[in-house]
Amino acid sequence: MTLLEIAPLVRGAYLARHGAPVLVSHTPGGGESPAQVRAGSADDLPAALAEAELPLPGGVVVEVGEEQVAFSVRTLGEVNRLPGARDTEARSAASRSAVVSGKVAVVTGGAQGFGAEIVHGLVDSGAFVYIADLNGDGASALAAEVGDHRAAAITVNVADEASVQAMAEQIAATTGGLDLVVSNAGIVRAGSVLEQDLSSFALTTDINYTAFFLVTKHLGRLLAAQHRTAPDWLTDVIQINSKSGLTGSNKNGAYAGSKFGGLGLVQSFALELVEHGVKVNAICPGNFYDGPLWSDPDKGLFVQYLRSGKVPGATTVDEVREFYESKVPLRRGTTGADVMRAVYYIVEQAYETGQAVPVTGGQVMLSS
Ligand SMILES: NC(=O)c1ccc[n+]([C@@H]2O[C@H](COP(=O)([O-])OP(=O)(O)OC[C@H]3O[C@@H](n4cnc5c(N)ncnc54)[C@H](O)[C@@H]3O)[C@@H](O)[C@H]2O)c1
Repeated sequence: MTLLEIAPLVRGAYLARHGAPVLVSHTPGGGESPAQVRAGSADDLPAALAEAELPLPGGVVVEVGEEQVAFSVRTLGEVNRLPGARDTEARSAASRSAVVSGKVAVVTGGAQGFGAEIVHGLVDSGAFVYIADLNGDGASALAAEVGDHRAAAITVNVADEASVQAMAEQIAATTGGLDLVVSNAGIVRAGSVLEQDLSSFALTTDINYTAFFLVTKHLGRLLAAQHRTAPDWLTDVIQINSKSGLTGSNKNGAYAGSKFGGLGLVQSFALELVEHGVKVNAICPGNFYDGPLWSDPDKGLFVQYLRSGKVPGATTVDEVREFYESKVPLRRGTTGADVMRAVYYIVEQAYETGQAVPVTGGQVMLSS
């Protein structure tokens, strides 16, 4: 058995025993007075873990046949013990942010934009967050900013399977498993269907669509293994989709198509992964006007649209912005806080999967 296989089973055993999210770190020796768990084979390990005394905080040394792997185990301080479990008794919504307190999350594309907003939101709510980004320097800088004990940077190309598998291995070795996957990394390559290069279309599809499959495949395996020893613990995969996943986007077909396809994957993965205790949902935000994609002073879309004269009569960036904000019934762009409210709702809601939650200020309304 590999560390990738053993670590989530160990984390699941602690989740089941203590009803609280834990950090399970691959550590030589397993810390002070570690528990000993022996199993003759891989098949016997879940039962052996279920019978073991597993004090928390503490450590454990797992022996499977000739192999021995050691872990230290702790929580991130005081944690909320209810929402991760299948809690049918709770009558009212828990305090919103408490639903992620102490949990382990990964945010792809977490170095900037919506991803960085979600990283900040989760860390402020008491979660431990892997900031997984192609821009490793940006991810490391953000991890240092929020505090290394609350976050860890992972350099990953989510469109490359070997890179995504290496990310899963790093997570298994550092925290054993995880509770929340936010698949956020995405790009926009706008262009006319009559003009766009195949390479530009394919890159958009690789990062926005195919990468969601790769991330769900490799991190979903960790979640499924963890579920074998923690059958009552619900976990979440959330895709950051777009309002362009709900309605077409003129001269932006590569993007809208990848996002529409993403919702097909969300619904299909939701149907399959429910047996592993994994809910799969999407959040469909409207435009994040304060983020770098729109507001970067050199290459942001506001400046680009001003220069290209896309907004008739606009002579300043502010006028371009006002033009776009006027399309939104609630008269502003989407913020990180708006998206975080949807994250909390999805995690807390134990009775929903396969859904797309719009966060568009009313710009896109669902129809049946
Ligand atoms: N900005 C908006 O107005 C808006 C609106 C709706 C939905 N979204 C969606 O939100 C998500 C984030 O968008 P954003 O505007 O914050 O983007 P952004 O360009 O500001 O940030 C994207 C991040 O993803 C990283 N990234 C890009 N390719 C990657 C890869 N192959 N592997 C790993 N990381 C990679 C980048 O390095 C960057 O840190 C995307 O899925 C996007 O479609 C954005």
